Amino acid sequence: MSLAVELRKLSFGYGGGPLVLRDVDLEISAGEFVAIAGPNGGGKTTLMRVALGLEQPSTGEALLFGEPAARFSRRSTLGYLAQRSQLGVDAPATVREVVSAGRLAVGGLFGPLRRRDRSIVTEAIERVGLSASADVPLRTLSGGQQQRAFIAKALAAEPSLLVLDEPTTGVDVDAQEALAALLDRLHRELGVTVLYVSHEFGAVERFVERLVLVRGGIVFDGSPAELPHVWHDPSHVHA
Ligand SMILES: Nc1ncnc2c1ncn2[C@@H]1O[C@H](COP(=O)(O)OP(=O)(O)OP(=O)(O)O)[C@@H](O)[C@H]1O
Ligand SMILES: [Mg+2]
Repeated sequence: MSLAVELRKLSFGYGGGPLVLRDVDLEISAGEFVAIAGPNGGGKTTLMRVALGLEQPSTGEALLFGEPAARFSRRSTLGYLAQRSQLGVDAPATVREVVSAGRLAVGGLFGPLRRRDRSIVTEAIERVGLSASADVPLRTLSGGQQQRAFIAKALAAEPSLLVLDEPTTGVDVDAQEALAALLDRLHRELGVTVLYVSHEFGAVERFVERLVLVRGGIVFDGSPAELPHVWHDPSHVHA
């Protein structure tokens, strides 16, 4: 099984300042569905940014599909929903336009979409359950529906790795469940490697085989069922 993410003896501090992450060793195989959890400020977002090559490790190395993450050659195959990414929500763009932008990123040229691209866009919208709203402005949708539109945008690039950072902020329990089930299908049917990053992993707990807890480093890596009880204690999980 090839590795999607490899972090080796990695440490990181912003601007050469105090280390936010130390001694991180992590391997995520292509096709895994993993929850990355831990307290606020524990370093989850930082870990993902280093893994995606958006920050350079202070020491150690970060590889994506075997290549140095910062110089990864197939950027368009990475789907990244950044934390609190509600970008462009005030713009009049429709769901289909937003999702199409995710497809344009693949071609690299801002020419018209070909028929195959258009059908991939339609399929991505269907997958997230927004077909009925495909041609309405994004800003007229609820927060949870907008979040799904951004997921469809990431899917339109046919990503091999999908990283969602706190995708359920402001999303109700039913929508969280629906998102978890959607990610489970993407992982099983399309083989997408999915990293679900959240201080709250309850919604995906029954779908993921693996839970990684981040608190200044990796403090637990195993099946959610093996999570020591102490980590369920809010005083430990919440900084
Ligand atoms: N751009 C930055 N510059 C300097 N320090 C930062 C920056 N971003 C994050 N930090 C610091 O790095 C540490 C880890 O932050 P990070 O955002 O990775 O945590 P997190 O686990 O994602 O938290 P949350 O659950 O709130 O999203 C925190 O102490 C934070 O203050
Ligand atoms: Mg974060």
